[in-house]
Amino acid sequence: MLNHIQKIHGLSDAFFTEHGRFPSMFIQTFGCQMNDRESEKLFGLLQAMGYVESPSEDAADLILYNTCCVRGKAEEKVFGRLGRLKTYKKAQPKKVIVVCGCMPQRAEVIDELKRSHKHVDVVFGTFNKHHFPKLLLEHLNTGSKVYEILQEHSETSSEEYDGQTSRFSPHKAGVTVMYGCDNFCSYCIVPYVRGREKSRPIDEVMMEIEALVADGVKEILLLGQNVNSYAYGFDKLLRKINAVSGVERIRFMTSHPKDLSASLVNAIRDYEKVCKHIHLPIQSGSTRVLEMMNRNYTQKEYLQLIGYLRKAIPGIAITTDIIVGFPGETEEDFENTLEAVKKAEFAGAFTFQYSQREGTPAASFEGELSKKVVQNRFERLLAFLNPIQLAHNKAYIGQIVKVMVDSDETDIYTGRTDSNVLTHFTSSTKLNLGDIVDVNITSCKTFYIAGEKI
Ligand code: 5AD
Ligand code: SF4
Repeated sequence: MLNHIQKIHGLSDAFFTEHGRFPSMFIQTFGCQMNDRESEKLFGLLQAMGYVESPSEDAADLILYNTCCVRGKAEEKVFGRLGRLKTYKKAQPKKVIVVCGCMPQRAEVIDELKRSHKHVDVVFGTFNKHHFPKLLLEHLNTGSKVYEILQEHSETSSEEYDGQTSRFSPHKAGVTVMYGCDNFCSYCIVPYVRGREKSRPIDEVMMEIEALVADGVKEILLLGQNVNSYAYGFDKLLRKINAVSGVERIRFMTSHPKDLSASLVNAIRDYEKVCKHIHLPIQSGSTRVLEMMNRNYTQKEYLQLIGYLRKAIPGIAITTDIIVGFPGETEEDFENTLEAVKKAEFAGAFTFQYSQREGTPAASFEGELSKKVVQNRFERLLAFLNPIQLAHNKAYIGQIVKVMVDSDETDIYTGRTDSNVLTHFTSSTKLNLGDIVDVNITSCKTFYIAGEKI
């Protein structure tokens, strides 16, 4: 593969000779942190091929969209953006447009791209991102459209980026520990576009983490659709990472309630670098809907589980995902969700309106709800959640919390507490990204807390 990288670098050098500058790239990521991480790798590959970052999409010689298809809205956004690129492409036919990630794994998306977005040059999916240099070279050499969509991983490891990677944040890094998903929640397209669950060996993960730490990373975010079913023992992995000097914070997501074991709870409790925060999607508070969703727990079991977590780890922050408007969801089901939200006292929640995804079991369920009903429930859910989150944040006022600095772009610093609460604060001394400082919290809003460094 290096061969492809070197060959494109040759083309970039020729571009330099002709234009007096290297070709530029603009990457836009949609969707989850896993895509964020993969975009970093694609960015690293492009750098290795002689590309430099473009400040704007308009000026870029290559535009890459790394896409998400988990909800219809995410796809509409990408198609909207692609539509806009048509005028760019007309004015600058040599601009290269690349679409990759989850969307192209869906046959309907490929049809739509071929039918209405003929200005897209290179298309690949989730299983072959490391083939990007080969596919790009083919396009650059022949000028033809290059589509490569695989249905499963083409090699034993999909981590074959030849070590070419980059990072958008100097002090924090995502590390993918598992690919794919075996849970088959009835609404979810992920198992179809990311394939079966596959864990990366511990040694491979540790090597990546050690290289990141040597490069200045202090916070590691372990990524997987369901990290609790990591094949080589997630608690063991946490223990190993906890022992790496230089690592200061360890986070992970996402956890499935059905797989949260006592040994993992103990690991979160005992390993001091593991942040006392867990993202534990409930999806619905109605046991009937949970069954239709194929979630494998009841409302009662979920609440018992978080009761256990809170007892084992006092003060742990619990956040969640909730879907409203699942087919057949009744007013009573929805009220059960509100009841669960109240009892669970979530510190934060991502809320979604159900989006029908072709090919998933739920797409053929009866009882589709009207937009109006879904919108109404969605708004009621937010109105219910926000005061709970505000109450959580109010409890920080008067406390001194440890915050890792994530942004120093303005006079006001931004960072996160161990419990993952967004924090804005001032400081009389200059701070660096990744510093962990004590902040005295003096005020709050629903979505953040604020104060000053002491
Ligand atoms: N419709 C709405 N939300 C969905 N999610 C996954 N699939 C769908 C869908 N079809 C939500 C779930 C998941 C989060 C990443 O996205 O809440 O936890
Ligand atoms: Fe979207 Fe899921 Fe793909 Fe992430 S894995 S980009 S959430 S479809």
